[in-house]
Amino acid sequence: MNTIAERLREETRPIHEQTEHLLYADALRTGTLSADQYRHLLLTHFGYHRSLESAIDQHPDFFADYEPDTRRKTPWLAADLAQLHLSQPFTDDVFTAWSPTELLGAAYVGEGSMLGGKTVWHYLQQCSAVVPLLKNARFYQGYGSETGQRWRAFGAFLTQKAAGRPDVVVDAAQRAFLIYHKLFKAVQLILTETNPV
Ligand code: HEM
Repeated sequence: MNTIAERLREETRPIHEQTEHLLYADALRTGTLSADQYRHLLLTHFGYHRSLESAIDQHPDFFADYEPDTRRKTPWLAADLAQLHLSQPFTDDVFTAWSPTELLGAAYVGEGSMLGGKTVWHYLQQCSAVVPLLKNARFYQGYGSETGQRWRAFGAFLTQKAAGRPDVVVDAAQRAFLIYHKLFKAVQLILTETNPV
């Protein structure tokens, strides 16, 4: 029988690929990401991680071993936005109604994105329009050399907490990827309204 980690990786592979595609993977891979697209990515991630972290904070006992204070990305993103003189976007708290078990699926998506983030950080260095914005960039550096260790610790936490309810977690992870799509489009709308063509 597949473990929860295997199920998540396999069953969310198609939506991961769609998400990569939506979030400018082609432009990243070809070194053509624009400064506006980089801003769009940061604002999208901010909306996701702020919502997720505040939802997790509502369940301190359940998430004690997740060690939320060591996994916060909102301060990194807030610093990156401030550096670029961008205000923090208003987006709904998308995880308010999620149970702790469902939030495990959303946390899987958030923590997994730190693995992809390492690749993205490498691509960003090849995007000449973005390089000038990266001087003090923090978010895409993620956990740096601790990435592997943090991912394994998350896997152990996930396995323990998802026991008996794997279907709920896998379904929630699929929906969490879709929330990324929704936030990406919501931020796009905000950016278009702020800078009409
Ligand atoms: C252009 C953008 C992205 C690229 C190139 C990318 C690439 C990758 C790569 C190479 C891995 C595997 C890393 C490893 O095994 O060490 C990975 C894992 C993962 N990424 Fe992405 N990623 C991107 C965006 C995202 C985003 C935006 C999310 C979340 C919405 C995400 C969620 C995940 C998850 C959950 C995993 C863990 C898969 C597993 O269970 O092993 N990725 N990504």
